Amino acid sequence: MVQPKIAPSMLSSDFANLASEAERMIRCGADWLHMDIMDGHFVPNLTIGAPVIESLRKHTQAYLDCHLMVTNPIDYVEPFGKAGASGFTFHVEVSKDNWQELVQKIKSKGMKPGVSLKPGTPVEEVFPLLEGENPVEMVLIMTVEPGFGGQKFMPEMMDKVRVLRKKYPSLDIEVDGGLGPSTIDLAASAGANCIVAGSSVFGAPDPAHVISLLYKSVENAQKSS
Ligand code: DX5
Ligand code: ZN
Repeated sequence: MVQPKIAPSMLSSDFANLASEAERMIRCGADWLHMDIMDGHFVPNLTIGAPVIESLRKHTQAYLDCHLMVTNPIDYVEPFGKAGASGFTFHVEVSKDNWQELVQKIKSKGMKPGVSLKPGTPVEEVFPLLEGENPVEMVLIMTVEPGFGGQKFMPEMMDKVRVLRKKYPSLDIEVDGGLGPSTIDLAASAGANCIVAGSSVFGAPDPAHVISLLYKSVENAQKSS
């Protein structure tokens, strides 16, 4: 059985107080911290890079689940590895030619390799990355167009989750975008076990309550599947 992981997206945190926001989320029961890395090119927004991960790593032991929305992920493997990233998830749309090298490099730096798909990318495109000698260890299904927090969840993406869960029962499947108490059951029953949630957690009066609700929803869906 795959483990439920709730990963608050630090994109919705107060970046000026990143260390205390990270600590607050861990205290509230977060399993992972989701770090959105945007280069202003692959997506029309610019966020943080390896230097910020390095600074944050000095303040927390937490699993840093880095989601690289960048055009040249291979250029960032080494700096993110050195900075203390735990997971390195790149986008399949920009990695068709070099994913094997990318996965191998990510593993050699001690990080967990993951692959992500934009809403318009068919799920079949990640199948080759899940087979062979050096497979990715997580698939992140975007449930909004990448770039910004606070967008509306796209339920039609759940078909991708269902297809993957059926084919790969023990794979970590992450969903990202618009997840919260009103959408979690759709994602959980489709088979997602890693849940990214930004605005629904940070915007809640009681983030611990939301995190526990998301966790329980995944657990319940697993029990009844
Ligand atoms: C969007 C990011 C998400 C985003 C999620 O490009 O990948 O991680 O922060 O935020 P919410 O949960 O607010 O949709
Ligand atoms: Zn993300």
